[in-house]
Amino acid sequence: MSPPTAIETEVHYLAGTQNVASADEPVISAGVSGQSGRRSSQGGAVDDFGATRKRANQREASASSRPLDTHEALEQRVRQRTAQLSELNELLRQEIAERRKMEAALQDSRERLRHLSIHLQKIREDERTSLSRELHDEFGQILTGMKLDVSWIKRRLPGNDGLILERLNSVLAALDHTIITVQQMSTMLRPVALDDFGLRDAAELAARDLMKRTNILCHIVSEPYGMGLDEAVSTGAFRILQEALTNVMRHSGAHEVTIILKKRKDVFIMEISDDGKGITKKDLVNPRSIGLTGMHERAHALGGTLAIMGVRRKGTSVTLSVPLRPVKPSSKEE
Ligand SMILES: Nc1ncnc2c1ncn2[C@@H]1O[C@H](COP(=O)(O)OP(=O)(O)OP(=O)(O)O)[C@@H](O)[C@H]1O
Ligand SMILES: [Mg+2]
Repeated sequence: MSPPTAIETEVHYLAGTQNVASADEPVISAGVSGQSGRRSSQGGAVDDFGATRKRANQREASASSRPLDTHEALEQRVRQRTAQLSELNELLRQEIAERRKMEAALQDSRERLRHLSIHLQKIREDERTSLSRELHDEFGQILTGMKLDVSWIKRRLPGNDGLILERLNSVLAALDHTIITVQQMSTMLRPVALDDFGLRDAAELAARDLMKRTNILCHIVSEPYGMGLDEAVSTGAFRILQEALTNVMRHSGAHEVTIILKKRKDVFIMEISDDGKGITKKDLVNPRSIGLTGMHERAHALGGTLAIMGVRRKGTSVTLSVPLRPVKPSSKEE
């Protein structure tokens, strides 16, 4: 049986008191009838009898009113406690309702922030794409045109003016340098390969770039084309890949990194694993790990998941999984 509640305990205790009071009752009435009968028959002590009678009456009265008082007191206390408990219950109900409301508001605000973040990322991506195209198409063409013109002038230079030739060569070298810089800037903003050929080629370019800039060996294991990635998945996956490779370069101390691109059933999987020092649990849960948070947000925006795991001195792996929807006719095929 469960232990009695505060109220039950109190009721038991008071009920016990009540029983004691009732047990007194027969003792008192027996005393009154017995003693008074004997004294009156002795023919005297009327005062005594009166006093005794009075005392007996008082005792009788108090004895008979005690259980009633106790019972009343008990009922009153129970009523008070019940009222207190209902008041507490009501407060609790209000608090629970308040908390539920706050939780819903928090959830709502989180959703809004997530949507805002997705929206901002899309705007950023669109801006990068247009800037990249502008740089590539406009500046690239103008610079190439200038280079052709300067070369033409150089070929038709009358006589052999060493000073002018030197100046023209210096202009040509500056133009070459600027053309390469513009190409790099354009690719940095958004690799043309991503739009022209898809994720696989863009990943290859990123891997080559990493090997050029570091001593890290980079392998790509990819399924043949036709994974059916739409533009949003290609872009999101590529941005996650870029952040993962930057992290490998900056933090891992790895010698090798492997990029796997594959499709299992209707799920696209991208895995980037290195053989470095291994990301720590602290880094994984740190809210200031903005790069990692961004990767998670991107995966979530694609309706997918991202798993990051680190094993000390063995390395880190970043795995993106995205369930694929049928590709719209206008979107690019991988
Ligand atoms: N491949 C990795 N190997 C080992 N540690 C890593 C790796 N990737 C990330 N980390 C650790 O996780 C931390 C958080 O990474 P995150 O990308 O969020 O931030 P960051 O690279 O330091 O800065 P940024 O905001 O510029 O990306 C890093 O500071 C690093 O300590
Ligand atoms: Mg980072």
